[in-house]
Amino acid sequence: MLKFKNPQRIQNLETPFWYYDMDLFRATVAAVVAASRKYDVKVHYSIKANTEKRLVEVLKDNGIGIDCVSGNEVRWSIVNGVDPSGIVFAGVGKSDREILYAMQVGIASFNCESLEELEIIEGIAAKEGLIANVSLRINPEVDAKTHKFITTGLEMDKFGIPRRMMGRAVEILRNSPHLNFRGLHFHIGSQITDVENVFANECRSARSIISFFEENGLKVANVDLGGGLGIDYHNPDSHAIPEFDLWFRTLRDHLPLRPDQQLHVEPGRSIAGQCVSLISRVILVKEGEKKNFVILDTGMNDLLRPALYGAYHKIENLDGAGRELRLYDIAGPICESADVLAEDRVLPETRRGDLIAIRSAGAYGSVMSSSYNMRDRAYSVFSD
Ligand code: LLP
Repeated sequence: MLKFKNPQRIQNLETPFWYYDMDLFRATVAAVVAASRKYDVKVHYSIKANTEKRLVEVLKDNGIGIDCVSGNEVRWSIVNGVDPSGIVFAGVGKSDREILYAMQVGIASFNCESLEELEIIEGIAAKEGLIANVSLRINPEVDAKTHKFITTGLEMDKFGIPRRMMGRAVEILRNSPHLNFRGLHFHIGSQITDVENVFANECRSARSIISFFEENGLKVANVDLGGGLGIDYHNPDSHAIPEFDLWFRTLRDHLPLRPDQQLHVEPGRSIAGQCVSLISRVILVKEGEKKNFVILDTGMNDLLRPALYGAYHKIENLDGAGRELRLYDIAGPICESADVLAEDRVLPETRRGDLIAIRSAGAYGSVMSSSYNMRDRAYSVFSD
């Protein structure tokens, strides 16, 4: 059950809000930093998961870089003090303006997702008289065994350069004085729970792709294996900090690199996911024909994951201690049938005004929210 650091203060706040457990966030960052030192892995936080300034500051202070997917994410990172040399920039569709901006500020590398994009970056660099650092995102054709909306490494996915085009990529890189090849990038999907098997498969595929480039005379200095480490949505308290050690060990065990090659990763969810809960109040409990509905003052406008992916988030009634258990569907106020946060959940008998916590909402929560139905967006509250 979620415990607030200052329960009295929380009682008087307007809902809904995102509650950031900053102690847990710092402990999570400490864990990833310790594992990254042990296994010599360079970490770039995938800021798309959560752009909150307070998180970026802690990450920056701990020497963690940032993985961006838009020009605005690059700018936001820089505004918040991140050194451009710690920024990588991926994405299947970067506009000319975004590319030019990132090139001018001097980011570490573009993670380039197509031959077409490689030629666009080369054209912009040539026109500006600059040299762009590029890594190639190759589609490794590995199944992440996760939800189909968050799988990215299969032949049918829009991400990455198809393996059969690697030869052409080598030619472009060899012939351009404006492109500086840094290495290879992979990302097979998100919320990966079968850590050892899935990441071992990714490494196997990466090994053969790395060999291809090196055999063709291009030195692969960096190997970025993306993000994807899953979190435990069912047990956020007993499993609050994800298994960074196991993840990095698996990568090191299955991907032997030379001392002059750096291993990179880009976790998003595993860093930001568990430290945030969405706090809401019960507007009313509605008796339906077949079901009883708890109607909250938050819904898919704040947390889209259940509606979009059928994602599970643990839901707790923080005022329900000692009450009998009942079965409910928990829904939001939005005029959409999909605005149901959870079906058939057992909660203590729930009443109007009860405080509800929707757990593990730190990754892909606030960043995917909207003001649909002209609702106010949930704001952030920090435990400290
Ligand atoms: N690197 C790249 C290139 C990515 O596309 C992503 C996530 C990451 C790293 C970070 O992955 P993570 O460590 O967070 O799994 N909205 C979905 C997840 C979309 C993930 C998009 N890419 C969700 O709510 O589950």
